[in-house]
Amino acid sequence: MEPVCLVIGAGAGIGGNVARRFALEGYHAVLCRRSNEQGLNKMVQAIRGEGGKASGFILNAVEENSIEDRIAAIEADIGPIEVFVFNLGAQTGNLGLEATSSKAFELGWRLATFSLFRAASVLCPRMEKRGKGTFLVTSSTAAMRGNPGQHSHAAAMGAPDTLGKLLGPERFQDLREKRGLEHDGLLLPERVADTYYHLSQQHRSAWTHEIDLRPFSEKPWWNS
Ligand SMILES: NC(=O)c1ccc[n+]([C@@H]2O[C@H](COP(=O)([O-])OP(=O)(O)OC[C@H]3O[C@@H](n4cnc5c(N)ncnc54)[C@H](OP(=O)(O)O)[C@@H]3O)[C@@H](O)[C@H]2O)c1
Repeated sequence: MEPVCLVIGAGAGIGGNVARRFALEGYHAVLCRRSNEQGLNKMVQAIRGEGGKASGFILNAVEENSIEDRIAAIEADIGPIEVFVFNLGAQTGNLGLEATSSKAFELGWRLATFSLFRAASVLCPRMEKRGKGTFLVTSSTAAMRGNPGQHSHAAAMGAPDTLGKLLGPERFQDLREKRGLEHDGLLLPERVADTYYHLSQQHRSAWTHEIDLRPFSEKPWWNS
């Protein structure tokens, strides 16, 4: 059995190049993409031509059990997936908000967010059992920065949630009392609102494209 680097969304861009890089470092690269079998085979052959090990599979990530079954088959036939790269292009077109249909928005979410959840649900427990594994997710500038026509893409790549929704009301309240308010360990929404206001007042000549707000004594809430 060989250590595997699985790339879901292995096109000619980031995905194919990441697969090649890992193959040249000694992993068996498994490249998966939705269409263009010829292009897929070409990438696999190119990696093999350089002395790397590679396999390619056509897979449509939004189809039920597609990722789940592929992960199980790879681990049975090739080896443990030590590196997982989630690199789906979740572009559904450059559409303004009014032109973005619910169907298109949902497709973006199914592609980039729900598929990622499905992959993580199957693979992370296996990695945990082995005590190692790397899980990489390609995001996009659209997830960080406002972009006209990118509503579905931005939401899918950002997979947004809020702490309250994530933890449930009791745990959130507990965390707020222990770490929030004067403890400086959590962002206070009302203070965040100050920044929103500031943004609304910025002059176009001095425009902020990215703001990273963090509490003064931040510690990650998920592991401390
Ligand atoms: N390239 C950049 O400079 C850059 C920079 C920052 C962020 N990003 C983001 O990174 C992501 C990937 O970029 P990339 O350059 O690697 O693009 P890419 O070369 O087009 O690769 C994306 C791959 O995703 C596959 N895919 C799409 N839907 C799929 C599905 N339902 N099932 C299986 N595979 C599917 C495509 O397969 P098919 O082609 O066979 O349909 C394609 O091979 C994009 O979301 C992009 O916004 C890119």
